[in-house]
Amino acid sequence: MRRKIVAGNWKLNLDINQGLELVKELAKEVAEKNPVAEVVVTPSFVNLAGIVAELKDSKIEVAAQNVNENKNGAFTGEVAANMLTAIGVEKVILGHSERRAIYGEDDALLAKKVDAAFENNMEVIFCIGEQLEERKENRHFDVVSEQIEKGLFHLEAKAFDKIVLAYEPVWAIGTGETASPEQAQEMHAHIRKVIDTKYGVEVASKLPILYGGSVKPANAKEIFSKEDVDGGLIGGAALKVEDFMGIVTAFN
Ligand code: PGA
Repeated sequence: MRRKIVAGNWKLNLDINQGLELVKELAKEVAEKNPVAEVVVTPSFVNLAGIVAELKDSKIEVAAQNVNENKNGAFTGEVAANMLTAIGVEKVILGHSERRAIYGEDDALLAKKVDAAFENNMEVIFCIGEQLEERKENRHFDVVSEQIEKGLFHLEAKAFDKIVLAYEPVWAIGTGETASPEQAQEMHAHIRKVIDTKYGVEVASKLPILYGGSVKPANAKEIFSKEDVDGGLIGGAALKVEDFMGIVTAFN
């Protein structure tokens, strides 16, 4: 069976006190309910070390929301991959649509960030997804294929042991509008085919592909029941333990 993963993308939310309060409760719930899915939280950089310390005896893993592509140097305000691993953070989200749209991160930059993460043996949760206009123009499959090719196709097959893809249609993020389970499945199957064509069936069939965009406890079970959907990247609903647990346990 492929890995099942539910990752909470905290974005620019929760200070250290709020974050600690959330993960203390979350850790208790996860210990009690023993979910099938791996559980990941992603605090802001400044709160990572504190959350890692709090979760050290739990099954919950901690990821960063971004990383700089350079090893070190004159890059004021940035964080390097080795700084993350030094505090016990072994995973990073890259290519989130907010990073692409608001901070202008393009495919070429993201490919470098992926390399920086891999040089430090981190796992990468790589986000892809089309804008509404692109879907309306029926270009969504091409857009997603291109994001994968430009961001990841320079890698060797074995790198995919440390990649999780997250399909997040931009029109479904934070809007309350979710892709239908059928739309998600259709795109996830396409993504798996793109990987299969380049890297072969073994790599493709092992690769976890998460869906993101307004996932809630009420729709998680149905979306996650689709064959090629291996979990979710969760924004808003990850900020409340009850909602997040409703999604985390959807595979149970
Ligand atoms: P959302 O965000 O669940 O609030 O739509 C998902 C994401 O941006 O990862």
